[in-house]
Amino acid sequence: MRITLSVIKADVGGYVGHSESHPDVLANAEEWMARAKKGGTLVDYHVTKCGDDLQLIMTHQHGENNELIHKLAWDTFVSCTEVAKKLKLHGAGQDLLADAFSGNVKGMGPGVAEMEFEERPAETVIVFMADKTSAGAWNMPLYKMFADPFNTIGLVIASNMHGGFAFEVQAIKEGKKVTFNAPEEIYDLLVFIGAPSHYMVKAVYHRGSNEIAASSSTQRLALIAGRYVGKDDPVCIVRSQGEFPAVGEVLEPFSLPFLVEGWMRGSHHGPLMPVSTPDSIPSRFDGPPRVTAAGFQLSGGKLVGPRDMFADKSFDNARQQALDAADFMRRHGPFEPHRLPLDEMEYTTMPEVMKKLEGRFVDI
Ligand code: F6R
Ligand code: MG
Ligand code: MG
Repeated sequence: MRITLSVIKADVGGYVGHSESHPDVLANAEEWMARAKKGGTLVDYHVTKCGDDLQLIMTHQHGENNELIHKLAWDTFVSCTEVAKKLKLHGAGQDLLADAFSGNVKGMGPGVAEMEFEERPAETVIVFMADKTSAGAWNMPLYKMFADPFNTIGLVIASNMHGGFAFEVQAIKEGKKVTFNAPEEIYDLLVFIGAPSHYMVKAVYHRGSNEIAASSSTQRLALIAGRYVGKDDPVCIVRSQGEFPAVGEVLEPFSLPFLVEGWMRGSHHGPLMPVSTPDSIPSRFDGPPRVTAAGFQLSGGKLVGPRDMFADKSFDNARQQALDAADFMRRHGPFEPHRLPLDEMEYTTMPEVMKKLEGRFVDI
């Protein structure tokens, strides 16, 4: 059975500030999804949140980039924005950058990760969702899952993974993409994806079968809008088990709360803390950035789950390390490398301060 798994998300308003989603907004999204399932548009769905982001996890048989599905997501977000406006939630509708839907939500604000595949006898998928960070945040974990034998022992000792994976990388500002084969081209690959604000892993494929293994959202809201509108807060779908990394190999990269860009005002580096869904309430300095993981088994497109994968106590050390790293980074205050480099900050007063100081700069 061919199934498409679409994860479409948007921040339609925060409660309180940018820290969480309001239950009424989630309940409204649930109603829209339930109607679409009843009407046959969706096979199944799961509505959830990560911090102030509303996530629609949907299965259907309409393929990727499908107008019906994207319009359903868009209409759901518009309706949820109405709920957010009534409650005067913060930044109601902040990610809906277009006035009207036009065929596809790409470029309109919401983040999208989708993949279509033939459902395996046992189809294990994990949906990662992050808040207070941007799309390049998946580069390091995807590299570790699919190219690093110190993370994924299956690359070494499982014959169905030994042939490696191919990484599709997007140069987001230039609007170009390129594919690298791992393991042969990992040094070339790392030249690019080690710079996650410029180059982002869009998809990963199994080289033997050409099956899709991972798909991420690479929308950059600031590029779409041409101005700051909030961090992208990306999502990523990863298929697991069999010819793909095992669940433990997929989750292992998050045992390091690696530094990402985002956090307060989308203008700081901070640790990405793996948490359960109820703990995705970034409040300290609007952070630190969070990642959640919803695990499912698919059964004829039905989403059996979710299991809240980071609820496991074995991520406690990662959380403690994240808190320690957060303390360490915060003590840098407004200095780099806590604060992002000038051209990466989402907020800046530089033009107005420069203007005010006009004439006061003299030659040295
Ligand atoms: C970061 C984020 C928050 C806001 C901050 C200011 O992605 O969403 O840190 O940037 O709370 O928010 P505004 O400008 O909406 O008052
Ligand atoms: Mg927000
Ligand atoms: Mg957010």
